[in-house]
Amino acid sequence: MRNESITRRQFVHTAAAAGAGLVLAGPGTSQGQDTAPGAKKADELAVAIIGPGSQGRNLLLKSLKIPGVRFLAVADIWPYAQRYAANILKKYDQPVNVYGDYREMLEREKSLDAVIIATPDWVHAEQTVACLKAGLHVYCEKEMSNTLEGARQMVMAARETKKLLQIGHQRRSNPRYTHALKLIENDRVLGKITHCYGQWNRARLYEIGWPKGEELDSATLAKYGYDSMDRFANWRWFRKYSGGAMADLGSHQVDVFSWVLRCNPRSVMASGGLDYYNAGEWAGKGREWYDNVMAIYEYPTPGGIVRASYQVLNTTSHGGYYEQFMGDEGSMIISEDAKKGQFWREVHAKRREWENESEKIESMDREAITLKIGETLSADGQKSPEGQALLEQSQKDIHQLHLENFFDAVRGTAQLTCPADVAYETCVSVLRANEAVEKGCRVEFAPSDFRA
Ligand SMILES: NC(=O)c1ccc[n+]([C@@H]2O[C@H](COP(=O)([O-])OP(=O)(O)OC[C@H]3O[C@@H](n4cnc5c(N)ncnc54)[C@H](O)[C@@H]3O)[C@@H](O)[C@H]2O)c1
Repeated sequence: MRNESITRRQFVHTAAAAGAGLVLAGPGTSQGQDTAPGAKKADELAVAIIGPGSQGRNLLLKSLKIPGVRFLAVADIWPYAQRYAANILKKYDQPVNVYGDYREMLEREKSLDAVIIATPDWVHAEQTVACLKAGLHVYCEKEMSNTLEGARQMVMAARETKKLLQIGHQRRSNPRYTHALKLIENDRVLGKITHCYGQWNRARLYEIGWPKGEELDSATLAKYGYDSMDRFANWRWFRKYSGGAMADLGSHQVDVFSWVLRCNPRSVMASGGLDYYNAGEWAGKGREWYDNVMAIYEYPTPGGIVRASYQVLNTTSHGGYYEQFMGDEGSMIISEDAKKGQFWREVHAKRREWENESEKIESMDREAITLKIGETLSADGQKSPEGQALLEQSQKDIHQLHLENFFDAVRGTAQLTCPADVAYETCVSVLRANEAVEKGCRVEFAPSDFRA
């Protein structure tokens, strides 16, 4: 951890910079103050956030629940987001310096240990690489990048700088997923897995707006690469800023496929289109990305080929979001939605001791076992300490758990659950599914494609 005492040189530098773009108007800060308004205790991690928009504020609030994390700075090109985040932090007695441009923040904030990045996908690569090179550990939201080259640069920068780079596929830190994986791998409840299915179905979308009077001026929009307020707010629809629904939603679930199968795909076929959001009230809006995609991946697992079909729909919410694994002895549904987690045993398969105690429901015309951490962990029906620890963890918020894993790794007490090279593999799988849609052909992968 760095010495965070402020030198006279830094003070003068900061005061001089106040008129040159550094915004020191956030709550708890005033012009001419030093660059670290919050007093950081020796055992605290000094953290900044870049892009406290919708998800960034979520991560901010979840980080504030983690002991030993102190925010010193916020950077966002949008004054509305700056104020919003700074006000939250003020309520938690964490006054911060506020910046419009993250590069100024990196120049001035010399006590930071780590940065959370929650900006739109297209700037993740530039910002992550700059933060890593500034000596900071980075938690960057998924999708890593909307280009493979961007994602590759992130992996390379993490390797070069030897700093930690966690990507926000938070299922990797979710105890319910870890529990399901143990049942699949240790208890072999599915037998030989042959097929997977995943979906993210959501209801018709509305355009994202912004509070009246909070529009960014056109010069600022242009400076940061946005053609209009609409594109700034609805960036997910545009190829320049996003990898589309496959990257936005599919990446979480395709990541689970390769995690559970311990394997990357050898091919993907996909069909999709912008079929709904180009007509009616959406006509003339210039949306670009597919609003629906259906993809079929093939995974060459050691046990044989596993086919996985995945769909993302933006017009109907039927079934919501979940991942399903099917084997010759059973099937399992796992979801970030804690209400969905079930196991169906094939009638011919071995009955486990723990089934006697487990909660059963009628689902899909059959008896299903509700997946409950702690109850079903061990094959002999004993509640293992490991299961009980997972149970305790599972009471926490899913994003908090992933952030905790990151901060623990920064402190040297844990290994990242979703380091950059793992997330890169998922980035390849989802961005190249878009390529399969585009070209209308089957895209083949070589194992080397998954190495940055
Ligand atoms: N892990 C998850 O479950 C999850 C959920 C939602 C979003 N996300 C990810 O979080 C990220 C943000 O998504 P969101 O929904 O919060 O978007 P958002 O548009 O609500 O927020 C983005 C923020 O970044 C700011 N910004 C834009 N360009 C910037 C730049 N160049 N420099 C600094 N700030 C900039 C905007 O002003 C805004 O405050 C995306 O990568 C998204 O995929 C992850």
